[in-house]
Amino acid sequence: MGKATDFKDGLVRTFDVGGESVAVVRHEGRFYAFAGRCSHSGYSFDWTRVRPGDMIVCSSHFSFFELATGKALDGPATEDLAVYEVRMEGEDVIVSTGKDGG
Ligand code: FES
Repeated sequence: MGKATDFKDGLVRTFDVGGESVAVVRHEGRFYAFAGRCSHSGYSFDWTRVRPGDMIVCSSHFSFFELATGKALDGPATEDLAVYEVRMEGEDVIVSTGKDGG
């Protein structure tokens, strides 16, 4: 996913992992990874900012998700976001999606 220094704090970036969009963000010194598209209608989370209360808000129809768990909290989305394990290898940010190559 790149080097830790490539990420601006609180700014979500999305990556294609085996044809699937995966979102990665550094927030308060920790990395999080989750589905790169909203569970409502698939809007991309690329360039989304982490909101106060550690939430991700979809800017399409304003669904709210809990950053750490992907839980759908409010809005039209009723399905939680998949969340993925993130680990560091030196300065490299590695996300495990459970699929090939990830
Ligand atoms: S696509 Fe995200 S709330 Fe509709």
